[in-house]
Amino acid sequence: MKQILLTGASSGIGRATALALAHAGHRVIAAGRRREPLQALAEQAPGRIEPLAFDLDAPLQQPLDAIDRLTDGAGVDVLVNNAGFGIAAATAEIDAGAVQRQFDTNVFAPLRLAQALWPAMAARGGGRIINVSSLGGRVVLPMYGAYNATKFALEALSDALRLELAPLGIDVIVIEPSVVRTAFLERSLQRPVEAQSRFAAPMATLVARSDRLQRMAIAPEAVADAIVHAVTARRVAARIAVPRTHGWAIGVLRWLPTRLRDAMLRRASGMPRRAALPAAG
Ligand SMILES: NC(=O)c1ccc[n+]([C@@H]2O[C@H](COP(=O)([O-])OP(=O)(O)OC[C@H]3O[C@@H](n4cnc5c(N)ncnc54)[C@H](OP(=O)(O)O)[C@@H]3O)[C@@H](O)[C@H]2O)c1
Repeated sequence: MKQILLTGASSGIGRATALALAHAGHRVIAAGRRREPLQALAEQAPGRIEPLAFDLDAPLQQPLDAIDRLTDGAGVDVLVNNAGFGIAAATAEIDAGAVQRQFDTNVFAPLRLAQALWPAMAARGGGRIINVSSLGGRVVLPMYGAYNATKFALEALSDALRLELAPLGIDVIVIEPSVVRTAFLERSLQRPVEAQSRFAAPMATLVARSDRLQRMAIAPEAVADAIVHAVTARRVAARIAVPRTHGWAIGVLRWLPTRLRDAMLRRASGMPRRAALPAAG
């Protein structure tokens, strides 16, 4: 049995992962901001899931003390940094505060947790840090540039941590889901677009396509299975794309000349050609 801190457990991928890990016999400290869904989750696996409500963007000392108490001072064997969110907005216009908030939750909080929790893992001879990135951490889409930047940063930090912590027996694994059927997409589209924005049309296209995207999306349980594998398998790949086939497609895309990739992504994401972006006013 492993002791696991899992962030973002109150919904979506995190909720499915908490249940799958508990089902596999592990003890999960299930973190999120909202108490009620965490409590309801814990009731589904009594003794296996411990709810812990806190905001990742606030100081972490109190939750770290609580983790210490919940593990009798031993710390966790595995940290799963899953919490995260995105804001769909033109990178050319998004305000600095919205960029900062995404970096706080998606990059700085996972790094702070990893820094706080690895020493106890090292003291016990090993552990694992599993960071939920995205295929958007390998390839960039218009209207998600700031979110993509957070996932690219998380990928870079993960690579550096893997190199640094390997001698201490700690492995760092990145999970890269494609589009997943959770609240993520809808939440990412909640920001109103200024009527005079030159990017109102591509944003409207994105909103119009969101239903189709949701229908094509994979189930959160598929990502949960990949995370369970990353927690339990003896040998694990450093990067796990979910589904695997999308990972290969992204690999091919990254290998293409940038201009050709731009043209393909522009077409696929419905970005109009230059003349079709109306001038303001
Ligand atoms: N869904 C996708 O298409 C997709 C694709 C690739 C990667 N991902 C990644 O998968 C991860 C999970 O997303 P999801 O799809 O499961 O979305 P979700 O259903 O919206 O869940 C997001 C989780 O993150 C938590 N969270 C957000 N901000 C937080 C904060 N400041 N402090 C503490 N907890 C916070 C939320 O907690 P509360 O609700 O309690 O606030 C919630 O539990 C994210 O890192 C996301 O970037 C998602």
